[in-house]
Amino acid sequence: MKILVIGSGGREHALAWKLRQSPRVTDIFCAPGNAGIARIASNISIPIGDQAALVKFALKEKIDLTVVGPDDALAAGIVDHFQQNGLRIFGPTRGAARLESSKIFAKEFMQRHGIPTACSGQFSQSEEALLFCQKTPHPLVIKADGLALGKGVIISENVEMSARTIHRVMDEGQFGDAGRRVVIEEFLTGQECSLHAIVDGTHYALFPGAQDHKRAFDNDQGPNTGGMGTYSPAPLLTPEMLERVRREIMEPFMRGLAADGIEFRGLLFPGLMIASNGPKVLEFNCRFGDPETQVLLPRLKNDLVDLLEATIDGTLDRLTLEFDPRAAVCVVMASGGYPDKYASGKEISGLEQFDNAKDVIVFHAGTRAENGKALTSGGRVLGVTALGSDIRAARDRAYEAVAQIHFDNAHFRGDIAAKALAS
Ligand code: AMP
Ligand code: GLY
Repeated sequence: MKILVIGSGGREHALAWKLRQSPRVTDIFCAPGNAGIARIASNISIPIGDQAALVKFALKEKIDLTVVGPDDALAAGIVDHFQQNGLRIFGPTRGAARLESSKIFAKEFMQRHGIPTACSGQFSQSEEALLFCQKTPHPLVIKADGLALGKGVIISENVEMSARTIHRVMDEGQFGDAGRRVVIEEFLTGQECSLHAIVDGTHYALFPGAQDHKRAFDNDQGPNTGGMGTYSPAPLLTPEMLERVRREIMEPFMRGLAADGIEFRGLLFPGLMIASNGPKVLEFNCRFGDPETQVLLPRLKNDLVDLLEATIDGTLDRLTLEFDPRAAVCVVMASGGYPDKYASGKEISGLEQFDNAKDVIVFHAGTRAENGKALTSGGRVLGVTALGSDIRAARDRAYEAVAQIHFDNAHFRGDIAAKALAS
């Protein structure tokens, strides 16, 4: 089979790495890819946003299956575009991906189908949004309706901050059209975890839980990032909690799809808050998480091609997902300064020793190849994943590997998975 992966991050490297292990796969192409992906696949320099060129390439190369990484490609309707051209592609259509690309759409879906989530109001007029904030206890959370590069969620401590935020987002257009409408919701407390469910329209199967670390610095300090590290399993998702998640979230979700006539085929990744009174959905993502994928796929035993095809064909009920019982920890190495300004083009050293390492996989994110060297080219540069008999062993092995890899001004958190060890 010929496969096309769309994207260029650590998640896409993990997808390509797992697909490479399938005996069914002959060729993997990645658009546009990175230096790590280039070693296991053919990178093609078509930007993610150029759907017409991607379709043309897939038709010309007779690609059998395309897998989409990033949310904005899904929101822009890449799946619809491929399907209209008779191409097989994994991911939800533009309409179904609104569960991620419109927080108002997602909130109304959850409210309609009794899926537990924070109480909220949805607003398209700033005066009404402000009035609501004046009447509601703080802190509260203001969310731009559309995709805003992970920056569209603001936790507001008081009415003055809410007023400023609403003005900036709704009137001044800080996030462009994405912020013309907002969701304003109650601030939830608890611990967060990432659930990955593969959904074929009528059936679903769960991956083990994972936990991300969104803040830039240790002890959850500093600005939010795309994610600085992950671990799986998530001790927070006990078997009892998982049962509640199935009953209170996944089953109403599947019934909701049927009731609303939404055909969802792809990966559903609800961000969960495990609150004292049970699990609640913070948001829906309609794609694999990054860096969650870097700990989930190394634990998956099934052939990923089988899984992706069963999702497209609606036959997931015939498969059983199997996972390595060992734990996985991924530590992200980022460019100093990320998520704000950072330098690029720094040479990365120490990578070769992990080429055939057992239980350590270095996933590339913001890297590019030049004259046989790997250079940094983004905020998140590498995701160093290790497997171990438990989270402690996996974490120790991941940090040992991180210590061997160098580039100027590298930044990583020193406390990935510490929470799991403390609990
Ligand atoms: P979202 O993109 O909606 O997942 O929000 C990004 C991050 O903001 C989440 O991972 C949480 O850390 C935080 N967050 C979002 N909604 C809430 C909420 N209702 N209460 C507390 N924190 C929240
Ligand atoms: N790691 C969070 C995300 O992929 O959205």
